[in-house]
Amino acid sequence: MTTLKHYLQFTDLNADEYAYLFERAALIKKKFKAYDKHHPLVDRTLAMIFEKASTRTRVSFEAGMYQLGGSVVHLTTGDSQLGRAEPIEDSAKVISRMTDLVMIRTYEQAKIERFAANSRVPVINGLTNEYHPCQILADIFTFIEHRGPKDGTGNLTDCLKGKTVAWVGDGNNMANTWVQAASLLGFKVHVSTPRGYEIDEKLAAGAHGISADSYQFFSNPMEACRGADLVTTDVWTSMGYEAENEARKKAFADWCVDTEMMAAAQPDALFMHCLPAHRGEEVEADVIDGPQSVVWDEAENRMHVQKALMEYLLLGRVA
Ligand code: CP
Ligand code: NVA
Repeated sequence: MTTLKHYLQFTDLNADEYAYLFERAALIKKKFKAYDKHHPLVDRTLAMIFEKASTRTRVSFEAGMYQLGGSVVHLTTGDSQLGRAEPIEDSAKVISRMTDLVMIRTYEQAKIERFAANSRVPVINGLTNEYHPCQILADIFTFIEHRGPKDGTGNLTDCLKGKTVAWVGDGNNMANTWVQAASLLGFKVHVSTPRGYEIDEKLAAGAHGISADSYQFFSNPMEACRGADLVTTDVWTSMGYEAENEARKKAFADWCVDTEMMAAAQPDALFMHCLPAHRGEEVEADVIDGPQSVVWDEAENRMHVQKALMEYLLLGRVA
């Protein structure tokens, strides 16, 4: 029996645990590609609660849990009592008596924290307004695959040390999580957002604070990209902010990742986007569909890293 551990924000695990998880994800991915059975979670059930839409998170968690030998229960606000005002605390007590693990995609971070405080089983953040830790887990694993040690040995997170990630766009859940990851794993994030859409530094810092040399703000997105090893962006309007769409389209017009911005980055810089993407808005088609883009690996890797995460939260270190 492992101690109860939740994954509600990136800072819930430490650098040592990340090094283990990335190594484990690489092994789990290799087994998946070879059709080699890996069933550590037989008889375990994952409850997935979606209060917002999803393609990647739904498929990666559901397929991933079955591949680990377990099963899933899928709930949405519309088809459960969550949408009829049953208190989140009561829902947590009930759902966590019948399942072994819970993944939640919702609005306020406070809601997932209230759920976790009343849960008997680990809770995973599948995206909130404030954070998207599973996505950054996949993004960093993808960076390691492309830029890490070719033989896959050694501390896999070492390849991130001293590297620069350029974030171009909204100061949203993804941006906050990148800032957390940079402080924890020893790389730097250059953030460029339009005025009024900056990250909330207190929120991004979480409980551990932001180390001064891991975060820098740029009002000019081109400057943020200069010399970067990875350029990344996200939709201008996140789920839950649709009413601001027209105002955002105007404010973000200069925050479209184009070939010029990619040219300002390192010649071998990678491009990432958590998807879904809007070509012609936050990214030019030539960039997302171009040779530096690794967005399809990034999307696939959601499943492999989350399988490693679920295994870790339920069984602890197994290797
Ligand atoms: N990137 C991501 O979380 O995608 P979905 O919204 O499709 O789950
Ligand atoms: N920032 C986006 C990410 C979608 C995966 C949103 O919250 O809608």
